[in-house]
Amino acid sequence: MRLITCASSETGFFGEQGANRLFETRHAVSNHAQANELVASVDDTIKTLMAEHRERRSHWYFHDFIPWESGRNYADQPWQESDATLSPEIRTALVLNLLTEDNLPYYYSLFQPYCDADSSLAKWSRLWTAEEGQHAIAMRAYLLTTRNCDPRALEDERMATVEAGWFGNFTTILDMFCYTSAQELATRVSHRNAGAKSDCEIAHTLMSKIAADENHHFLFYRGVTAALFDQNPSVMLQALQRVLENFAMPGTAIPGFQRRALSMARIGIYNLRIHSENVVEPLLRSWKLDGLTDLTPEGEASRDVLLAMPAELIERAEIFEARQEKMAKRRQRTPAAV
Ligand SMILES: [Fe+2]
Ligand SMILES: [Fe+2]
Repeated sequence: MRLITCASSETGFFGEQGANRLFETRHAVSNHAQANELVASVDDTIKTLMAEHRERRSHWYFHDFIPWESGRNYADQPWQESDATLSPEIRTALVLNLLTEDNLPYYYSLFQPYCDADSSLAKWSRLWTAEEGQHAIAMRAYLLTTRNCDPRALEDERMATVEAGWFGNFTTILDMFCYTSAQELATRVSHRNAGAKSDCEIAHTLMSKIAADENHHFLFYRGVTAALFDQNPSVMLQALQRVLENFAMPGTAIPGFQRRALSMARIGIYNLRIHSENVVEPLLRSWKLDGLTDLTPEGEASRDVLLAMPAELIERAEIFEARQEKMAKRRQRTPAAV
């Protein structure tokens, strides 16, 4: 069974070849009880990381960053394309990132079946949800106030996205820790790049704020995953292989996801090269994959696949980049239609 429905191979969100190999080599621990026991064994780490997170993350209020003074009544002055001040590509990126944040109810539900309401993990997931909640609110407030999206289309797409839902379909809870580590880091990069390339100081500041939150979430998940690696590296290597070979942002049900993700890839907000260099490689390095010892044959096999992954992603990135360059040259040679 495929874990995640994938987008275009050009966007950098998944590895098709890897996915096929996964089916051949999966010897995963599909035993939920064993996976849950493993998570229970790192409960002290979860508590510590959550306390550190509360200390480290500075509380912020989205209303401080929205240029409310530029807002106008949509009933009297309906939105038109010419209202937008950001480039179409940046608007595409911000709307895609916003719709991804809108799917928060599904992210909240991820860990719920695996923990009691009073457990450390449940407490963390409520805190995480509360913090994530501000991201969509903040981005929506910015886009609507500055008229940088069609408000009707945005609401229709939010409805379609949340109605379609998102179900990670992970093999065990261990996959979820690997996934959230990668996903939070990827989201941090994507938000930060979208803001930095926006040519708007306000968008830049707001997206940097949100990206900083994603970084704090990433540190939590990376830390828990590191503790799980200490407990059972072989099982975790297999979980990580499953996740990274099928990695996709949790937005594939968003209308026009492939087209939008491709647009983001083209302007360097998130693409295969960024995925390899800024997400996969740092993750493998931080969990010190090449130093793990006493692995089972399945663990060794997963490690080999994982260590080869950054170079494979770069090879695919080079193909994508060469194709983009060729297309750009072709466009230059073709006179624009009058
Ligand atoms: Fe977020
Ligand atoms: Fe986050």
